[in-house]
Amino acid sequence: MSFTGTGAEPAGWLPGVSSMLYGGDYNPEQWPEESWPGDIELMRQAGVNLVSIGIFSWALIEPRRGEYDFGWMDRLFELLHSAGIRISLGTPTASPPAWFFHEHPEAKVVTRDGTTLGFGSRGMASPSSPAYREASVSIATALAERYGNHPALAVWHVHNEYGAPVSDCYSEQSTLAFRRWLQDRYESLDALNAAWGTAFWGQTYREWEHISAPAVAASVVNPAQRLDFARFTSNALLQCFIAERDAIRAVCPHVPITTNFMAGTCESVDLWKWADEVDLVANDHYLIAEDSRSQVGLALSADLTRSIARGKPWMLMEHSTSGVNWQPRNLAKRSGELARNALSHLGRGADAVLFFQWKASRSGAEKFHSAMLPHAGTGSRIWSEVCALGEGLSGLDEVLGSTVSADVAVLWDWESFWAQDLEWRPSEDLAHRERVNAFYDRLWRDQLTVDFAHPEAELAQYKLVVAPASYLLTQAAADNLRRYVEAGGTLVVSYFSAIVNEYDAVHEGGFVAPLRDVLGLTVEEFLPLRVGETVRLTLDAITGDVWTDDVALAGAEVVAGFEDGPAAGKPAITRNTLGAGAAWYVSTRLDAEQLSVVMDRAYADAGLVAGDGPDELELIRRRGAVAEYLIAINHGNKPVDLPVGGTDLLSGEAGESLKIEAGGVRVIRTDHRYR
Ligand code: GLA
Repeated sequence: MSFTGTGAEPAGWLPGVSSMLYGGDYNPEQWPEESWPGDIELMRQAGVNLVSIGIFSWALIEPRRGEYDFGWMDRLFELLHSAGIRISLGTPTASPPAWFFHEHPEAKVVTRDGTTLGFGSRGMASPSSPAYREASVSIATALAERYGNHPALAVWHVHNEYGAPVSDCYSEQSTLAFRRWLQDRYESLDALNAAWGTAFWGQTYREWEHISAPAVAASVVNPAQRLDFARFTSNALLQCFIAERDAIRAVCPHVPITTNFMAGTCESVDLWKWADEVDLVANDHYLIAEDSRSQVGLALSADLTRSIARGKPWMLMEHSTSGVNWQPRNLAKRSGELARNALSHLGRGADAVLFFQWKASRSGAEKFHSAMLPHAGTGSRIWSEVCALGEGLSGLDEVLGSTVSADVAVLWDWESFWAQDLEWRPSEDLAHRERVNAFYDRLWRDQLTVDFAHPEAELAQYKLVVAPASYLLTQAAADNLRRYVEAGGTLVVSYFSAIVNEYDAVHEGGFVAPLRDVLGLTVEEFLPLRVGETVRLTLDAITGDVWTDDVALAGAEVVAGFEDGPAAGKPAITRNTLGAGAAWYVSTRLDAEQLSVVMDRAYADAGLVAGDGPDELELIRRRGAVAEYLIAINHGNKPVDLPVGGTDLLSGEAGESLKIEAGGVRVIRTDHRYR
């Protein structure tokens, strides 16, 4: 959908918004109303121009079914509007009120082991509950009718983080909905029995009513059934979003509608499918605080978000100013980290930089979570960094709407990840995310910007495509990869890829069969390793662990073999040429450091050059209509001289080359012009 803007904003962006958005979740209902004007005055000091409100306010807005109390929200709208602050209005459906569950106990979520989840926290009702769908549509409609034409309203923020804290539900109503979904998908029980391979362990179904959600059973439940249930769950949540969205759109067609994704951290929703349903993409991201290189995980999430947004600018709906409250050890961000994190998201395409939350809560489960206005108040380090970031962003209007382009794509497919992570795989040391992270980390260190792509998506624009974890690869995806390589692309495939089809059935012809001609090999047998066991390769003294394959060559050349271990004497790293391109296969686990042995060679095939800056320097480029912007972030503890001429929009400094202090950030409008 495209919106008629005021002309001030870049195409496709929020109507009337021509500045970088800055702000966070604002929950003033937790505070006396007398404190609201003071909050808003501080927002202005910090440069805040957008806040998200109402996300958890259902019990206040609709105290009893059908009775609304909008008074406090009306006053809040006016206060924010008179201060020039725009509003992202939440629909409060992630937190149904007590009266709803009292009337509809059947709408509670039931976990896989049969536990009915209680009230007193937050979290979704069962996405398949008709009563929940009806109640959420009616509160969304009431909000749209009340505020849809308010000039402060900038965007609709439907629900909160679909898929968290729970996604799948095994209630009776979910089972009924699952059966309906299966009937649509398969049409006949014969087709379902064939797809699920129900001849195995005597599961053959003769009646639809006999099929249930895959609850905990005596042993492993049919993996094809589990995989379909994961697809059904993602779709059930999506239908909840669509129902609210359509209700809002019917009343308020002129304001964009989004919901906050958790790209790369919530695994239960297939965001490729969701992307087509939102008017613009929004994401939440929290660092894994104990990871000393947490900036790499942040970059991955931001790149994935941009890819889901099909390259268009997106909103960072939430991140934190410092520590969170829900990890085992909630490490605080150190001085400068707040700006480095925010600018990395911006560099990777975010045109809105928002936090959870504006003001630290005194009560409730999140009182130890950081905020823009912390418990320590305006004399604090966090407050001064928040104000400095707000001031910095206010100088970046010209960056708005500029885009990021990448030469490398990493394949990402939720369906494959769901299937791979089920039980009874050849080794419990296999984890799809571990391989994605390792390859991504290698590319990050080499300063190559990465898009993520679905395996069946168009890949022709990329010089290099990496398949770190494509366990489930459809024939259509394999054909897509073949066309890509034949046309001159370079492909790198890691072990345990192209093993099963969309029903989690081993490909006819065996492991890797659909890619046999692309890779020039098949895998005869998996040869997983013991805990701690390592194997030596015949190249650059590198070692692998976790996994080896018994590779049978069918045209590929051996670049490295195994010196020892169960695959001794067999190929470890291979390269095959097909048409104008080349395809690499890596049959053991190499860490991010050692992966350069493969990747440097693949870069050479692809005509890519790794960056030669220090390892801890993050460089990203955004292209605007008339200029290019280099976002440079120094995560190291030494200053770095950047041989790039231009003007730093954060500090106003200009020069032929600019120094970035240890821990510093620059947004450089480069002198380089292009057509
Ligand atoms: C999520 C939620 C927020 C808040 C933060 C805390 O992202 O959307 O409401 O709970 O986590 O980190």
